[in-house]
This record gives sequence, C-alpha cells and structure tokens, in this order.
Amino acid sequence: MIANVGDLRAKLRAVLGAEGLLTEAADVAPYLTDHRRLYQGAAFAVARPLDVSEVSRVLALCDAHRVAVVPHGGNTSYCGGATPDETGDQLVVAMSRMKRIRGVDVANDSLIAEAGCTLAQVQAAAARAERLFPLSLGSEGSCQLGGNLSTNAGGTNVMRYGMARDLVLGLEVVLADGRVLDVLSALRKDNTGYDVKSLFLGAEGTLGVITAASVKLFPMVRARATAFVAVAGVGAAVALLTRMRGASSDRVSSFELIPRAALELTLRHIAGTTDPLGTAYPWYVLCELSGSGFTDALDALLEESLAAALAEGAILDATIAASGREREALWKIRACIPEAQRREGAGVKHDIALPVGKLAEFMQRAGPWVATHVPEGILIAYGHVGDGNLHFNISAKDAQAGAALLARMESVRRAIHDLVNEFGGSFSAEHGIGQLKVGELERYTSPVELSVMRAVKQALDPNNIMNPGKVLR
Ligand code: LAC
Ligand code: ZN
Repeated sequence: MIANVGDLRAKLRAVLGAEGLLTEAADVAPYLTDHRRLYQGAAFAVARPLDVSEVSRVLALCDAHRVAVVPHGGNTSYCGGATPDETGDQLVVAMSRMKRIRGVDVANDSLIAEAGCTLAQVQAAAARAERLFPLSLGSEGSCQLGGNLSTNAGGTNVMRYGMARDLVLGLEVVLADGRVLDVLSALRKDNTGYDVKSLFLGAEGTLGVITAASVKLFPMVRARATAFVAVAGVGAAVALLTRMRGASSDRVSSFELIPRAALELTLRHIAGTTDPLGTAYPWYVLCELSGSGFTDALDALLEESLAAALAEGAILDATIAASGREREALWKIRACIPEAQRREGAGVKHDIALPVGKLAEFMQRAGPWVATHVPEGILIAYGHVGDGNLHFNISAKDAQAGAALLARMESVRRAIHDLVNEFGGSFSAEHGIGQLKVGELERYTSPVELSVMRAVKQALDPNNIMNPGKVLR
C-alpha cells in the first residue's frame, strides 16, 4: 500500500489540474484492462499530462515516493504492456492529451509528433504535406505513436519501410527521475557516441516515457497494384515473393500470407466479405506493389509476372484488384482476421519470426505437430511473410474445445516457442513482451544479453518505478 495516497493524489493534482488526474472508479476503469482482456489491474489514479513538463514533474514525484508508473497509449497491446498490476499502488500515465503535431519539415522529410497522437493522425499530418508516414497496422485509428515506438510495432509495410524503430530520427523522453532527455534530432546523420534513443524503442515504458518523436517521411504512394494469389503452400509463397521482388524493381510493399482457414473465418464472421477466387485453395497471398508515380505500369507488371508464374505452375490462381473498391475488399479480408478470430471464440496466439527461407520447413514441422497434439484447435497461421513474421494462432473448434485448449495453453505455447527457437527464430516479432512474455524472454534470451538489459534498466531506473513487471522482472 502507498503510505499516504491522499497526499500523493493532492500533489499530483497540483501538477496536473483537476482534468489531468482521474481518481473516480468509473473514470479509471477503462485504463485497467487490456485489449484482449487477458489482465484486470487496479490503479490509485490515472494521470493525463498535457505537456512534457507535466510528465517530468509527475515522474519526479513518483520516483521520490517510490510509486510505480504505467505508461498508457491507445491500449491496443497484445501482451498487457499498458495494464497496471492488481495492487492498486500504481499510477497509470495516459498520453492521450499530448497529441500535437509539432511540425512538418518537407525538405528534411520528417515530422515531430507527440506521443499521444494516434497513428492515423500522424499518417494524416504527413499526407497533408503530400508525404507518407508508412507505419500501418490494424489498430491505427486508436493506437498511439508513443506505444508504437515503445513496442517497436511492425504491421503491413515493414518489408519496404522497416519497423517503427527504423522510422525514428529522434526522441524526447522523460526519464524515471523526471529529467527530460532531449534527443529530438531530425538529423539523418549523427555519429556522436551511443545511440541513446534506441534504448527506449521497444522498451515498453520500462526505462522512461517517450513524449515526442521526430520520424521519417517518404514520397506519397500514388500508385498501387494489388493481387490475391492462390498458392500450394508456404514454400510457394516465399518463392513468389522472391520472384515478385525481382520482377518489380523491389516495388513489393506488402506480402501477406492467408491460409484457407483464416479466409473461411473472415467470410463467416465479417459482413460484406466475399471469397475473391471462386474455388477453394489451401493458401493465399495478398501482394501489393506500390510506387510514387507510375500507375499503369504497376498493374501491367503485376499481371505479367503473375501470368508467367501461373503458366509455370508456381501459383494456382490469382485475381488483381480492378478498382479502389476491389483493393479495399481484398485488404478487408486481411485486416479482419484478428476480429474474425475473436468472434470465433477462444484461441492461442503466437507472434513468431523466422528467417524467411526457413518458413516452409518450419510449417512442415509445426503444422503436423498442431494437428496431432492440439486436436481441439484449428491452425490459423497468417501474417507478414515478407518479414518472416507469422501470427501462428490456434482457434478452438467449438466452445467445449475452447476450455480444453485454454487449459493446455502454456504447454502448447512452450512447444511452439521451443520449435521456433530451434529454427533460430523469435517468440516476439512485433507485439513485444508486456507482461505476457516475460517468462519467454528469460527462457530464450542468452544470459549475457539479459544481463546487459538488466544493467541498462538498473542504470536508468534504479528505483524500479517504470512499468515494473513488464519486459523484465
Ligand atoms: C496482425 C496483427 C495481429 O497482423 O499484428 O493482424
Ligand atoms: Zn501483425
């Protein structure tokens, strides 16, 4: 218990004002559970700072009182990274009121945005300047830039533009003791010692609170060509990727794998979706080429390449979106897979990464393993093939199977992650660690790497107030 919680609330209110501090149970409640409803926490208050100086004073107070702080963005985490523990002794710091775009620099191809901006807001600010901020993911309407950077989010454009980490030029961060680390540089070249900002990218708020970022922009995408391609297996999908990259001068910006089972889930649960190809095939790829100018060339290029692949038997069938509406319909199938899975009922999720060249062999081992050892489940392995990232999910066949699957969740997860490890892969590709995967981090990370992480944590947050229990414990 916090010794004098009333006193601390009063001090916080003096910094934040009445609107900046929520203490009523009904106001605090939305911040206490995660998107997937895996966790139910408690908090003595929610701070809603307006600017970096308020964040600084809040953290200084919390550090002095040894009170834990849980930074909170759009609450779309898959791993419970923004949910406080059950003690009620933690302060949630919600960034949603820090949502200014501080500036757009077209010549430098960069903009500075505050952490509480939604991803869609950052994309729109770039678009208004006829530029592209390429980070794109399902929750972009509600997730926030600070959370995207703190979890090093991925999404559907990583192949071309990289992960969130790769899009950052500079950061403004409030450290655990309240000091403001201003490395908000917009420089493209800056070799001045350690890359300090990189420590906070993927740290999930365990080292400080990101309050603003300077991010990279790119030429606006003005041409797209999108195909829904049927393939025999994961090996064929990977071979098609290599072929398309070569044939298109590397214009492939998205390359998403969709198994038949995922398409069926989506058709069943999401209104307005239809099967793009009349016949059922075992696997599909949603492939998109994009460029900043030459519209027609991309469609023709895609058509020629796919026709050649079909003639050689490298693919089974394909359709190319003939309009913006058709393109949106194809993307809707892909984007709605998580929602369709949620509506289907219980399931186990894995966010794994493998070397792209090993995906097919991995699936040859993992697919039969699931069929044999998890008879109550249906494998829904979909995702970002171009990045070697699969959402290797297992949905329960029905409600009764759901209970059985959830009861064995830990052992299933262990077996899958052990196999991923054997293949030199990662148990967390783009969703982070949060509180869900702390044990996995300890299991699969080398003692030397873990000791480096712990040393950094100790140096930057000696009182362990920053999101304790997340990433490390
Ligand atoms: C996706 C999310 C779950 O790719 O990462 O659908
Ligand atoms: Zn994903």
